[in-house]
Amino acid sequence: MKSPRALSILAIAILCSCSNGGNTKMTEVANGVWKLTCGRPEAFNLTSGLGITPKADAINAMPECSGLPFDMNDLNLEVFDGKTYIRFPLEEDEKIFGLGLNFHSVERRGSIMRLHVDHYGGSDNGRTHAPVPFFVSSRGYGAFINSARYIDVWAGTGVRKDSKHPAKVIDRNTDPDWTAQPYSDNLEFLVPAEGVEIMLFAADNMLDVVRKFNLWNGGGVLPPRWGLGFWHRVPTLYSDQQVYDEVAEFQKKEFPLTVIGLEPGWQSMAYPCTYMWDEGRFPNPGEFVARLDAMGIKTNLWMNPGISPESDLYDSIEPYTGTHTEWCGIVPDYTMAQARDIVGRFLWDNEGSIGVSGFKMDENDGIDSWLYTDVARFPSGHAAEQIRQTYGSMMQKTLTDLYRSRNTRTYGLVRAANAGTVSYPFVIYNDYYDHRGFITALINSSFIGTLWTPEVRSSDSAEEWLRRMQTVCFSPLAMLNAWSDGTKPWSFQEVNDEVKACAELRMELIPYLYTAFADYTFYGTPPVRAMNLEEGYACEDGFEKGVLDSTENPYQMAIRQEAMDQFMVGNDILVAPFFEGDRERKVVLPRGRWYDFWTGELAGDSEVITVTDNTGKGNIPVYVRDGGIIPMFPAVSALDGTPLPVTIRHYGEKSSSYHLYDDDGSTFDYEKGDYTRIEINVEVAADGSKTGKVTVPEGRKLYSISGIEFGF
Ligand code: GAL
Repeated sequence: MKSPRALSILAIAILCSCSNGGNTKMTEVANGVWKLTCGRPEAFNLTSGLGITPKADAINAMPECSGLPFDMNDLNLEVFDGKTYIRFPLEEDEKIFGLGLNFHSVERRGSIMRLHVDHYGGSDNGRTHAPVPFFVSSRGYGAFINSARYIDVWAGTGVRKDSKHPAKVIDRNTDPDWTAQPYSDNLEFLVPAEGVEIMLFAADNMLDVVRKFNLWNGGGVLPPRWGLGFWHRVPTLYSDQQVYDEVAEFQKKEFPLTVIGLEPGWQSMAYPCTYMWDEGRFPNPGEFVARLDAMGIKTNLWMNPGISPESDLYDSIEPYTGTHTEWCGIVPDYTMAQARDIVGRFLWDNEGSIGVSGFKMDENDGIDSWLYTDVARFPSGHAAEQIRQTYGSMMQKTLTDLYRSRNTRTYGLVRAANAGTVSYPFVIYNDYYDHRGFITALINSSFIGTLWTPEVRSSDSAEEWLRRMQTVCFSPLAMLNAWSDGTKPWSFQEVNDEVKACAELRMELIPYLYTAFADYTFYGTPPVRAMNLEEGYACEDGFEKGVLDSTENPYQMAIRQEAMDQFMVGNDILVAPFFEGDRERKVVLPRGRWYDFWTGELAGDSEVITVTDNTGKGNIPVYVRDGGIIPMFPAVSALDGTPLPVTIRHYGEKSSSYHLYDDDGSTFDYEKGDYTRIEINVEVAADGSKTGKVTVPEGRKLYSISGIEFGF
């Protein structure tokens, strides 16, 4: 790595091709990060309300950036008709990723979208839980269009007559090479505002571009350690006694459990909500939360935005709510500090102060017929469109600030997010339930600074149950959401042992996962991420000609081939799940040697392997990079704060080192330097024998770890 360069804020006006955007300005604000403004950007954008402090020092410590990979004259900005027109150049082999939490595709080239916060409706058309207007290009740069408007995107579909790389004109009647999607050399955006701020990020590789985007937005979240255990959400109308009984079953079966989630029924009224405990089902909430806490189990509570007239909160929040309701509940304008303070204080007094660890903030994403409409008015004066695009972000800010002000980390769930929420402790989920789609979303979440959980709810078969459990245990939040189905981890007897083993593995992997999250915080590295962000990953992605059919495919549209079913967890683990019915699958191993996680055997070297499972019940295929060091806890079923022994695994033949991260697991003291990076070195001798060394830097202590030994 080159030495960090000292950057002062350079105010250099760089000319780019901009008509009517007379006041276009581009300023380098950190190493390979530029702020570009065109026209009159709106004061309120996706990040203006979030109070983000960019981690510029961490960006400046990255390898020095040599600049953007394209000619600025090819970046076109124009303000016309009250809107901003943006055009980036595309090269022939260039790939585009990001632009929201999509469930059916990873590469964006060839798609047309309107980025609009919404419940995902089954198509990658831009309406989704996190339609983040950030893309990363395989050329080594990325752009974030910072506008809280519904943004239109044509990702390599528009064909201009003045194109520098014109599409070939051919005759469909006679030429089999004719295609319904002629070649396009541009990526276009239309922002319905008379100007916009664009952040540009450049680096040698896509992962570093994503890191810069994440660091610029404050760095990734570091969840409390308990957040990385196993979560279980109980049926919506469960009472305290039913929860105690359920927890007792977990304990009897020694099944891991670190968080219990309560669904709408914890409240005295839901849809609209009171945010107040139901006295019948939970007569003594303080005792309830304390009793779970004493067993090392945290409590997480469901909520949605609409506040009921029955709530004690109603009168005080009413002046800060919009004209329209959600399920007859009034809707706070969280862009206003007063609204955040009032709701935050209420949630603390009624829930946080008795030990509730966090919330699941539901239904802030949309479903148009349930939500306030776009003609709703809000007291802040922001348009309903802007409120919609930022609602999940501003709710997250409310709760993030609430817990942070008490020096307590929270970790919860949310159904809407947007750019700038990377440091917020919330994981996105939804009601959509396609398992493959869930994994594609997991992959996509890593390009856009968000976290996603492929939560498990129900299954049609034991095999599907196991396959879902296996993947959720390798995600940012391992959860069974039994709110409506009343499922339990052991609902499918045939796979009980296998399900328990993967939940236990989740607990064992906590030191590794926690370190991966520390890298998210300090270096912006997504803890779970797309293979496309992995160096040395080459995959035959592309388009395959479709079959002509007068109703199904009258223009013989191309069918996209891309890798949407394997991903990285932390720096060294590659996960390639089986889905229900699979008896074999292909796994693309990036450059280098990779070892089977379960057996330690060499699995392949820079190649595509085929893995089989004739039982439908086998382990999830997991591979470790040559030299991969994996620190593991014992298979505990709870985390009660007692330090645990760590066993170090080392895979392959390469000597290597690893910096295991440890801190108190629950406060923000790590931000003041109160943490330890334990250096672990493994030397592999010529005869294959391994020697390990652990170094705790002088004056540093261990927090969650009672001792470290090597498992070889
Ligand atoms: C849904 C949510 C579910 C569950 C349910 C409760 O919107 O996605 O996970 O919480 O509400 O009513």
